[in-house]
Amino acid sequence: MRTNAVKIAGSEVGVIKSLRGLMVEIQITGERPDVKELLIVENHPEVFLEVSLFKTDTAVCINLTNSQVLCCGQKVSRSNTKVTVPVGPKTLGRVFSALGEPLDNGPALNDNRRAISEPSGTKNYHKGKKLELLETGIKVIDFLTPFVKGRKIGIVGGAGVGKTVLTMEMIHNVTRSEKSLSIYCGVGERIREGNELYETLKETEVLKNTVMFFGQMDSTPAIRSMVGPAAATSAEYFRDVEGRDILFFVDNIYRHIQALTELSTNLGLIPSEGGYSPTVFAELRRLEDRLSSTDKGSITSVQAVYIPADDLSDPAVQAISQQLDSVLVLSRSVAENGIRPAVDLLKTTSSLLTSTIVGERHYQLAGKVQAIMQKYDSLKNIIAIVGENELSPADRTDYQNAKRLIQFFSQDFAVAERYNGRPGEYYTIDQTLDGIEKILLGKAAEEEKK
Ligand SMILES: Nc1ncnc2c1ncn2[C@@H]1O[C@H](COP(=O)(O)OP(=O)(O)O)[C@@H](O)[C@H]1O
Ligand SMILES: [Mg+2]
Repeated sequence: MRTNAVKIAGSEVGVIKSLRGLMVEIQITGERPDVKELLIVENHPEVFLEVSLFKTDTAVCINLTNSQVLCCGQKVSRSNTKVTVPVGPKTLGRVFSALGEPLDNGPALNDNRRAISEPSGTKNYHKGKKLELLETGIKVIDFLTPFVKGRKIGIVGGAGVGKTVLTMEMIHNVTRSEKSLSIYCGVGERIREGNELYETLKETEVLKNTVMFFGQMDSTPAIRSMVGPAAATSAEYFRDVEGRDILFFVDNIYRHIQALTELSTNLGLIPSEGGYSPTVFAELRRLEDRLSSTDKGSITSVQAVYIPADDLSDPAVQAISQQLDSVLVLSRSVAENGIRPAVDLLKTTSSLLTSTIVGERHYQLAGKVQAIMQKYDSLKNIIAIVGENELSPADRTDYQNAKRLIQFFSQDFAVAERYNGRPGEYYTIDQTLDGIEKILLGKAAEEEKK
């Protein structure tokens, strides 16, 4: 934590009057600090208290250090600093905590740091006049949720359905170009996964164009809630100061909301909607706003979204989905049928699937695929009762083609080779469109007969 602020105690604020969990209440007798300011406890330079809110003459703070050395009556003073993280070229290839401390074995970076609570440049929103389609090589993504520069795609699903593996495959396929710059943000997930990703990137050239931030499941909610803003601060710098295009990966954005919720419980705030306090959704929007494109540069994000109890209607999942341009839904039942990636073709939606963005041919094919999948869904129920032979020939053809499409969208991933021993596959958008057309025109069926 020493890297965060050169701690010079400023004017006195007051004394600690109560302690509960991570929450520390300070009776203000002296100068009033700023919100988000770090406060210094007398004789405990290792402790950092961050001001969260005020209740008349009380400052309610969060103890960021999770240490047990505090007690009532201790004197507290201002530091006139906030939590900062290093930004800029020196951070490339490095791994940091939410407080900007190195998590690799590299040196601490003390110059060129920025406060994580102060967004920069989001007033110049820019959705990008020229829509640039990026190819991911993953058939179902390129076809249903086009990956457009400067936009946001969500990978949504319950536990163990393949969100992390799909996010890794995206990183593997889209970060290889020399010019690309990636920011990876690990929030509240397995520590092992972060280490594995770091080791994998180190073996390739990708790491030197990547900055990573982690606050995994072992961190306090305060720290977990700060990783997103920390990574956003880094992205904003590259976008606004260097005019770069950034690829931004988060696994998992739901954990950000979860951390904020835990934190507001710690602060004694009352939850409402589905156990979430309303302020957490406002904070989510603030973070998502920071991850947008401006006239200087773009941020293209891939966000994994955990669904609690496989319930897509969860208020937090809904709030996150509203911020995304495309929502790729992964489903347990699809995964159980051995289809990888386990995409639910009907629940997956994208506002970017328009003829102006993907072109007329792609757009028409997408409409046909959605129609045939819709039909498949209702035919499935009929077949369960009367059997496939009772279907009309036209229905049977559609049913068979829908099954072929589901199979077609299954593909082996380079990052999953260690699970199943099969090498990864990459498909260009044209190969994907040709394959789908072939199925819809019945050519695939003819070939099977031969
Ligand atoms: N595309 C895939 N190919 C092969 N196995 C996969 C694939 N996606 C997921 N798996 C298997 O499922 C497990 C859980 O996937 P993971 O991405 O960690 O789930 P989530 O992040 O949604 O909890 C993996 O460890 C792997 O065994
Ligand atoms: Mg995961």
